[in-house]
Amino acid sequence: MMMDTVMQGLKAPPKVSGEKPQVGHMEEFGVNFARFLMRCNAECGELAEFNMGGQPTILMSGPEAQEAFFKTLDTRLSRAAAYQATVPVFGKGVIFDAPEDRMKTQLKIQVDALRYQNMKSYAAIIAKEVEDWIAEWGEEGELDFLDEFIQLTLHTACHCLLGPDFRYKMTDEFKSLYHDLEKGLQAIAFVDPYMQQPVFEARDKARVRLQELISAIIAERRANGERKYGDALETFMSGTYKDGSYLDDNEITGLVIATMFAGHHTSSGTATWTLIELARQKEYANEVLEELQALFSDGRELSLEALREIPRLERFIEEVLRIHPPLVLLMRRVLEDIDYKGSLLAKGKTVAVSTYGSHRNPAFFPDPERFDPHRQKPDTLWAFIPFGGGPHKCAGNAFALMQLKSIFAALLPRYEFELVDPPESYQDDLSAMVLKPGSPSRLRYKKR
Ligand code: HEM
Repeated sequence: MMMDTVMQGLKAPPKVSGEKPQVGHMEEFGVNFARFLMRCNAECGELAEFNMGGQPTILMSGPEAQEAFFKTLDTRLSRAAAYQATVPVFGKGVIFDAPEDRMKTQLKIQVDALRYQNMKSYAAIIAKEVEDWIAEWGEEGELDFLDEFIQLTLHTACHCLLGPDFRYKMTDEFKSLYHDLEKGLQAIAFVDPYMQQPVFEARDKARVRLQELISAIIAERRANGERKYGDALETFMSGTYKDGSYLDDNEITGLVIATMFAGHHTSSGTATWTLIELARQKEYANEVLEELQALFSDGRELSLEALREIPRLERFIEEVLRIHPPLVLLMRRVLEDIDYKGSLLAKGKTVAVSTYGSHRNPAFFPDPERFDPHRQKPDTLWAFIPFGGGPHKCAGNAFALMQLKSIFAALLPRYEFELVDPPESYQDDLSAMVLKPGSPSRLRYKKR
């Protein structure tokens, strides 16, 4: 389904009930936005308009509408305009604040850093980080795995992005700066990221200081000349615009932050949910374990090659991503009036897609709340969309899957895992912009 430029006599999309003066649907949205979006779809169908603190927003549901959302060009449905909240975090002139052609180059350089040629070195880094992490575990114990995976994936992200020197000198200062940047990207920032708010002041200070830290590494590397690093910073430093000029320190810092933000909590939340589901779904977990034991029975190392095909584990992770998609809400801003099947998507409105709602559509996923890695794949590309789709599909898709496979291929053959709390008490926390399991997410482990 393509979207046509506007003609006369188009219908306005139906409006969602329960709008309140001034705040619109913000309160209901803020409590549990994935559920709110499912209500919008149930009440209004394929298109449902709600009010996000004054910003009219149209939820597009179902494979046909989602395909149109993902395939429509940036010049008509703009990500930049929808994600302005990221500008003070990524930096002025970076990605969504850069002019179109510079943004394209920056995104291309970012994608280059996540391409196959770097994946071999990333796989080795991740395998080492996982080994170092479990080295202290002993025979048995109990951990909050959400905390653990947040730490682990911060270490792997920093190591792959900025290299071992930075990773092993990682200070509490860095962690606290990163935390301040994260807090600057809460729901309210999507209404106005420049409001007078202590969290936004802290965000701006953190951005300045982080650039000083990254500039120091850049300067050191420039002084070292030809040395090779095999990390993302090397790709960011060597990429050029059309005129041959290099990215400056602000832009490089912005790409580092943007890549960390895209990959960190999406990965830690998925890793935690995978472990919880492995402990909760014993039958399927045993199938995965048998697969891993057979694969690594000859004592081979966890190389990129070994990680390439692990079908049962992959299907298991896909089912985790179906039920618990980390990025629940994807957004674009309408830049020119659009005709979508006789309905008007008016210039200035936001359009949105909910992965969470799409993955619970019973027409494609019968009995959608049931965890079943054997379920049939839908016959359309546009119903299962944890990584988005079209030209802006997740650039870190391969990295994310490689990391998850690396973690579980190392953990499962060596340890058994059990939930500490009642199985039904492990629930999605839907109050933050990236979905994650509620905290704490405690599990016991025991050596096999
Ligand atoms: C399970 C883990 C992950 C999930 C579910 C996920 C999901 C997504 C989704 C849905 C999008 C599209 C957003 C939109 O259309 O508005 C996206 C974009 C992106 N992701 Fe991921 N992501 C994951 C991990 C990662 C990792 C590990 C990285 C980097 C190391 C990464 C880097 C990116 C980048 C750079 C984009 C923007 C691509 C572009 O603008 O062209 N992601 N991701």
